[in-house]
Amino acid sequence: MDRISIKAARDAAAVGKHACIQGWVRTRRDSKAGFSFLEINDGSSLGNLQVIAPAELSNYESEVKRLGSGCSVTIEGELKESGGKGQATELLASAVQVHGWADAEEYPLQKKRHTFEKLREWAHLRPRTNTFGAVTRVRNCVTRSIHNFFQEEGFLNIHTPIITASDCEGAGQMFRVSTLDPQNLPKKDGHVDYALDFFGKPTYLTVSGQLEGEIFACAMGKIYTFGPTFRAENSNTSRHLAEFWMVEPEMAFYDLFDNMTLAERFLKRIFSDVMEDCLEDMQFFDEHIDSTTIATLSQIMASDFVRLPYTEAIEILESCGEKFEYPVKWGIDLQSEHERYLTEQKFKGPVILYDYPRAIKPFYMRVNDDGRTVRAMDVLVPKVGEIIGGSQREERLDVLTERMIEQHLNPADYWWYLELRKYGTVPHSGFGLGLERVVQFITGMANIRDVIPFPRTPGNAEF
Ligand code: 4AD
Ligand code: MG
Repeated sequence: MDRISIKAARDAAAVGKHACIQGWVRTRRDSKAGFSFLEINDGSSLGNLQVIAPAELSNYESEVKRLGSGCSVTIEGELKESGGKGQATELLASAVQVHGWADAEEYPLQKKRHTFEKLREWAHLRPRTNTFGAVTRVRNCVTRSIHNFFQEEGFLNIHTPIITASDCEGAGQMFRVSTLDPQNLPKKDGHVDYALDFFGKPTYLTVSGQLEGEIFACAMGKIYTFGPTFRAENSNTSRHLAEFWMVEPEMAFYDLFDNMTLAERFLKRIFSDVMEDCLEDMQFFDEHIDSTTIATLSQIMASDFVRLPYTEAIEILESCGEKFEYPVKWGIDLQSEHERYLTEQKFKGPVILYDYPRAIKPFYMRVNDDGRTVRAMDVLVPKVGEIIGGSQREERLDVLTERMIEQHLNPADYWWYLELRKYGTVPHSGFGLGLERVVQFITGMANIRDVIPFPRTPGNAEF
């Protein structure tokens, strides 16, 4: 007998098939007429499959009538057209096999509604809820869309290292990787002697694959990395994780405006793939999480992103009459209240801010002719704020070296990065998209911890 997913079994085309489905019981309801309704979910779709379990089943009294939320089953039967609302099919069971029971008194998801905070404590069970099932499918769709987009555009996927000796963002927010015994650290001249550590030098978990990505872009043309990144920043916000996934395309011969155009096409492609492949899940988010999400995505796909120099953004913020908690003046790093004003009040959609002050951006961004700004761009969206950060890279050896010194980095540590500028340097650009930020934006989930399977944040790494 055909083993099929519940997604396939719910399709009207499946009517008449004899099939076998496997999953977890969501609910059981006994009819007075002497049979039971079971709602089964297997993760393939938001909707459950309704199963009619007749009293003739050999284990009807002994097992079927004891089934409840959380039990796992294999059910064989015939798919019939359903008279019920909101479902095309139902399964008339001919055999029900129970694999695992879930004690109704103890099973945490027995109760229908839990807060997302509470569900975080049950990261092993929350994928069985409607919301996390939907998040999981959307996240998967975004991942597929990212690879499809870049592969179709001729980008090569490069696996950059997770353990690294260099701090890409120069922000000193790295987790150390060491095999030294913290109880017994080898010392030299009063300092820890990392020459005796595993790699013979201090090493860390990467904050970004960009620098290694640039190496490959400066040979292969267009590449992208897609991997986990780690930041030891102590920010307990709804938009920060200590471990998150980042996609980083890097393109030789692209200037900042080419970069912006790519970023905009890329985001629109992700949104349209999700609307097409995950419509049922998106309708769920629209109904239960954030009633603006589908309208927002549709509007964004149909309009151009605003492109705004940082200096003009500051002028807008200074003269808008809004009372901000953090005062605005040229040179500041924008706070989320400023970003939200621009995307939600002023432009009502995504804004690409560019040409930021050199002092607040990393060493690798190309210095503009004005000497005080760099070719940076951030893509800001309503509610979430920054989802993409990128730039045109500094391709001039002398300016790059000077910028490193200005930011207290030792050029000798980055000799290989500098050599890309020494041998056949090219103008090039790239950006980084935070996977969780984009999933958060699409779904409307308020907290970034609820769009990643196992969130790592300060003080939290239970699973
Ligand atoms: O702006 P960021 O720090 O840029 C870079 O790392 C560059 N090296 C990217 C590049 O040009 N190749 O980070 C890029 C994106 C942000 O826009 C945001 O979406 C996400 O990564 N991000 C985070 N997401 C979750 N938690 C955090 N702590 C994040 N920090 C950055
Ligand atoms: Mg950034």
